Amino acid sequence: MHLPAILQERLSDALSGLTDSPEQYASMIRGTTDPAFGDYQVNCAMPLAKQIDGKNPREIAGEIVDNLKVDDLCQSSDIAGPGFINLKIDDQFLADSLAKLLGDERCLVQPVNAPKNIVVDFSSPNVAKPMHVGHIRSTVIGDSLARILGFLGHNVTTDNHLGDWGTQFGMIIYGYKHFGDPDVVKKNPVPELALLYRKVNQLIDYRKAVASVEPSKQAIAETEILVKQTEAELAATEKPNKKKRKALANLKRRLSSSQDNLAAAQAKIAAVLADPETAKTADQHATIDKDVLAETVKLHEGDEENLTLWKEFLPFCKDEINRIYDRLHVSFDHTLGESFYHSMLADVVDELVDKGLAKKSDGAVCVFLDGYDAPMIIRKQDGAFLYATTDLATLKYREDTFNPDEVLYVVDSRQGEHFQKLFQVAKLIGHDKVHLEHVNFGTVLDENGRPMKTRSGTLIGLEGLLDDAVAGARSVVCDPERLAKMDPPMDQDEQNAIAEAVGIGAIKYADLAHHRTSDYRFSLTKMVSLDGNTSAYIQYSVARTQSILQKVGTDQSAIIDRVAQHSIQFTDPAERTLALMLLKFEEALVNVHNDYAPNQLVDYLFDTAKAYASFNEQCHVMNAETDAIQTTRLALVASTGNVLKKGLSLLGIASVPRM
Ligand code: ARG
Repeated sequence: MHLPAILQERLSDALSGLTDSPEQYASMIRGTTDPAFGDYQVNCAMPLAKQIDGKNPREIAGEIVDNLKVDDLCQSSDIAGPGFINLKIDDQFLADSLAKLLGDERCLVQPVNAPKNIVVDFSSPNVAKPMHVGHIRSTVIGDSLARILGFLGHNVTTDNHLGDWGTQFGMIIYGYKHFGDPDVVKKNPVPELALLYRKVNQLIDYRKAVASVEPSKQAIAETEILVKQTEAELAATEKPNKKKRKALANLKRRLSSSQDNLAAAQAKIAAVLADPETAKTADQHATIDKDVLAETVKLHEGDEENLTLWKEFLPFCKDEINRIYDRLHVSFDHTLGESFYHSMLADVVDELVDKGLAKKSDGAVCVFLDGYDAPMIIRKQDGAFLYATTDLATLKYREDTFNPDEVLYVVDSRQGEHFQKLFQVAKLIGHDKVHLEHVNFGTVLDENGRPMKTRSGTLIGLEGLLDDAVAGARSVVCDPERLAKMDPPMDQDEQNAIAEAVGIGAIKYADLAHHRTSDYRFSLTKMVSLDGNTSAYIQYSVARTQSILQKVGTDQSAIIDRVAQHSIQFTDPAERTLALMLLKFEEALVNVHNDYAPNQLVDYLFDTAKAYASFNEQCHVMNAETDAIQTTRLALVASTGNVLKKGLSLLGIASVPRM
């Protein structure tokens, strides 16, 4: 049930005599936050008055209300202030709807009339590299979008566009050839390959650091001179010179960032040199960055040895990330990694060249686009294809295979320009019917507001993070004082299950609760708390509904029977508020689709859990005054449990029967 959509249709009919675009004005309907203004408010009379000569907004609002046929839905439609129309939903309608909600598995969410084919590209880590916290954000947002869009009735295809073909494989192949012990790798492949990756990465970083020292020093010296000059110029003029002062501030900023870079590079170098063994290795691998690239090129060109190693290593790398997916309860319809498209890349380049869309420039093949300084490079001078080439091939394949109406790329905001260019080129080639959307998201920050990293300076390993969250959850939900109150007592298995559900839920919920485009600070303490906008709070609310039903000794089907006998009647405003809230579930889900923003569902669940908490405070269920009153309240309790549980499951979060 989508109340605003139903009202909007009625409004549109009522507006048809007043304007040529009734739908547009009818869409100006909003939920109110203050019940004094009804449940929904429409403010279209004011802008309409500007279009219609000789009538003021109140008169127009009056005409709309006169034409409006909502007797079956609304108790009142009043005009307030300069011409707001306040609509209050009828109690009988609410009661009837609650009765329907109670037994409905879909929680009154109707499948869309025109289902779309939607491809969701998400998670997509670069295997062989440790997966990081940015990939978890993509995984969690993408998974919940796929669940929600699927539940709304769309045909969703999920695809994990694994980075399984890039330089990181060149790195492990190089590492294996130079430092690997085949027996050790065979015995313990996953940690051993990770070790090789880290070693090669460290050596490459070291070379980069070494190479950056001289340029950094030079930049510092040059900037220092400029700073001195500008300071002297400023001192020489008496007039305040805003522009110069700004320039000076910029120079000083540049200076300090060059100094930081130099210090970071020197620290890296010192760390390697501190260990004579590593220092010697670093010395022996002076051209490692080029050599790693060469290994990657050999792999791409079909070199037998490298291809064999790749085939041997890839399953291990996949096992590693699959462990994390299992833990997160995330799965994909397809996992078509970059390697899958390798044989299609040359054709993509040829097609663009043939159509006159791509040109050679300095030996590379490029697509020049309006509005960008740099072109999209689709083949490098040395013949290598790029990330963009693969994405073009992927799009073509998806068009041919899945016939999508929408393709969603759930990827870090930092790849914004890549996707803008990709979408432009896609249009040029003729993929112009499909809606392409970069569902971008911000960075996860640590408690100090910096991009989250571990002590060693690498992006935090995911598994450790999940373990920490589960441990944090355990300390909150299984603390001895809470456990002492559990009747029957909670055995170890149940405690483990709850800690896991709340801990993993906490990580997911925190990712989803913020609008995806904003950065957010990761705080383990806050995210496992039982108070506030957390998954634990919603899970706890679900558990409370279940415990009330148990104490009363009833269940859903018994409540349905009781409702048939007594019918539903509201005697307390908190009941009505909660009932209306429960009917807004579909609205929340449609809002998620409109902005590809699962936080709309999170906000809804939090508001519903709060409405449920006030209801619990105001209204006795067990000791309700009459049987009839208790029946209505039980219907609310059971439905709240159903809606919250369904909502959590659409976020990919488990509920527990008690906690
Ligand atoms: N593997 C990429 C990364 O980790 C993300 C891929 C996103 N999907 C895509 N079709 N480009 O940065």
